[in-house]
Amino acid sequence: MKNIIITGGAGFIGSHVVRLFVNKYPDYHIINVDKLTYAGNLANLKDIENKPNYTFVKADICDFETIMGIFKKYNVDGVIHLAAESHVDRSIKDPFTFAQTNVMGTLSMLQAAKLTWENLPEKWEGKRFYHISTDEVYGALEMTNPEGIKPPFTTKASSGKHHLAYGSKFFTEDLKYMPHSPYSASKASSDHFVRAFHDTYGMPTIVTNCSNNYGPYQFPEKLIPLFINNIRHRKPLPVYGKGENVRDWLYVEDHARAIDLIFHKGTIAETYNIGGFNEWKNIDIIKVVINTVDRLLGRKEGEDMNLITYVTDRAGHDMRYAIDSTKLQRELGWEPSLQFEEGIEKTVKWYLENQAWMDNITSGEYEKYYEEMYKNR
Ligand code: NAD
Ligand code: DAU
Repeated sequence: MKNIIITGGAGFIGSHVVRLFVNKYPDYHIINVDKLTYAGNLANLKDIENKPNYTFVKADICDFETIMGIFKKYNVDGVIHLAAESHVDRSIKDPFTFAQTNVMGTLSMLQAAKLTWENLPEKWEGKRFYHISTDEVYGALEMTNPEGIKPPFTTKASSGKHHLAYGSKFFTEDLKYMPHSPYSASKASSDHFVRAFHDTYGMPTIVTNCSNNYGPYQFPEKLIPLFINNIRHRKPLPVYGKGENVRDWLYVEDHARAIDLIFHKGTIAETYNIGGFNEWKNIDIIKVVINTVDRLLGRKEGEDMNLITYVTDRAGHDMRYAIDSTKLQRELGWEPSLQFEEGIEKTVKWYLENQAWMDNITSGEYEKYYEEMYKNR
């Protein structure tokens, strides 16, 4: 039996990773360590909460003594570290919390793993510390093809799989880190600590940097679930700036599959970029979401386009993200499994069919936050 800690398992991506591991590996014991911040929700894991190979521990990753205790109690072999503050807008308002959780929390996890593993007779043998990071650490790419070119590219674009490319460059693993937001700066710092623990102590670490995820159970402060819910209630859709920024969207279960593959087969000390080959301007994706929600609610398609409301841009808003994940494809054979059209249809359906999940989150405290966040935009 392998004992694996998954941190942040009650959040969006973490819950998909926990579900995948608990169901796929009955011989593993999955220990979900989560503080249950505003973003953590045990309702995301209802279907697996009673499985014999699953344990939930409510704990703060910054609380080093408690984390040490968890390592000792469960004889931990591996860590998949997702717990983090994850929303860029919140990091602009409150950078301290991001430094605390993302930097000090990661350091606390690393140090607990180190102190536990280096004293074992087998030392690092069979151990693994896998840190989940973001493409935002690379900064922003230029929009050299503002209209978006279709593959095959004549530029030096890597894989011909992008459905459109809004520039000739992509995020590759060898790029310099150039984070712009307090969120991405905190994630970049945590990535450096993880690599430092490999280089200094020999800890078997892996880092992956992924693009924007979408799918069920995402907290509705993020673009896609926020807009689905607002369209349903016919509330304004706050589009930052001109809506021209580009993101590379990946269905969350494809990210979870990549994490499974890399945790088991990835090379120690390596970095892998994970992305969907799926670049979209915000305004274009918003139109797809409006049409899909309208159709699924039995409204006239496009009827809710008038909800689009251009608001003040996000400070330091990165223009374009686009991942080159050919290394992961070449070395481990991973590819996104879902076409975007399929993924967005599944996603919208899920939110509309799980309105109680959404209503539960968007009432009370969150409502106050939302009003505060958008009142000056
Ligand atoms: P999320 O905000 O939905 O979930 C974060 C989880 O971490 C929550 O369950 C929360 O309770 C927990 N948490 C926060 N602070 C904690 C603490 N101090 N101790 C213990 N638990 C704590 O985040 P997400 O979108 O699922 O992102 C998960 C990870 O993936 C993050 O590290 C993020 O940087 C990274 N990532 C996210 C995306 C994306 O598109 N969402 C893309 C690439 C990488
Ligand atoms: O690229 C990976 C990152 O993707 C992850 O590391 C982050 O954790 C995750 O939150 C996400 O960051 P973004 O800032 O790209 O995601 P968000 O959903 O907040 O915004 C997506 C785009 O939509 C971005 O260009 C800002 C814009 N936007 C967002 C919101 C919430 C709007 O125009 N209006 C909005 O109300």
